[in-house]
Amino acid sequence: MQVVDNVSALDRAKFGPIALVPTMGALHEGHVRLIRQARTLTDAVLVSIFINPLQFENPSDLEKYPRTPEADIEKAAQSGAEVLWRPKYEQVYPETTIALQEVGAIASLYEGATRKGHFQGMLTVVRRLFDLVEPKWAIFGEKDFQQLFLVRRMVKDLKLDIEIVAVPTVRESDGLAISSRNVRLSPDDRQAALVISRALTNASQMESIESMQDALDTTLASESEFKCDYAVIIDEEDFSLAKGDTKSKRALIAGWVNGGRLIDNMSMVGLAR
Ligand code: PAF
Repeated sequence: MQVVDNVSALDRAKFGPIALVPTMGALHEGHVRLIRQARTLTDAVLVSIFINPLQFENPSDLEKYPRTPEADIEKAAQSGAEVLWRPKYEQVYPETTIALQEVGAIASLYEGATRKGHFQGMLTVVRRLFDLVEPKWAIFGEKDFQQLFLVRRMVKDLKLDIEIVAVPTVRESDGLAISSRNVRLSPDDRQAALVISRALTNASQMESIESMQDALDTTLASESEFKCDYAVIIDEEDFSLAKGDTKSKRALIAGWVNGGRLIDNMSMVGLAR
């Protein structure tokens, strides 16, 4: 595996079509699955690591974001990456005034409502990474479902010739969705956080939207350490609230345990039924 800070130095002819796995580092099992999925498409797997300041609405969150550069090199190589790209800030944002990516109304719902500017910063960097790498495929996890939705929509709106490949959320054996932020959870916080996957699983066993919503609300309310931000059933196609005839239903949950934000989601279609 090559570790580079400039993709323009890559021999494109040698690589052929590239599968890009964009990350902010602190690689974990979830990223490993993204890289392995990319490897099923091509040998030319490029993992980027860039902690994008634009998508952090809170400077202390940016400062506290986990950084594990040595372990990242090892994990990326072992998972099958061909190139690990760690661009410098100036390569991604060469200009002094950054032109932000347009975002539509869905970017201000749910995560966007609490994390103002987050999705605009995220889409801005993803567009930059796409422009610099020109991948044929880009791999994203379903864990950040709204991010995945918005990236797909941006690619469609801008008519970019990139296939967005989604990879299911990876969970610990007790159900906790794997996230770079989990390292900040104390054992007690982690225990409380399990209410999220419990609520999703309970909801997935219900038949109607009303009983799914009730299962989410009742389960989440059973854990006093969990402060709910939102728990909703949406239509995956357009992010509107699911109705009786919605085919592709998905439950989204976000909230805080001891000040740490956690998000998760699960398809409500044909799981336990
Ligand atoms: O999901 C992430 O890690 C980030 O939002 C991404 C897609 C790498 C953009 O910075």
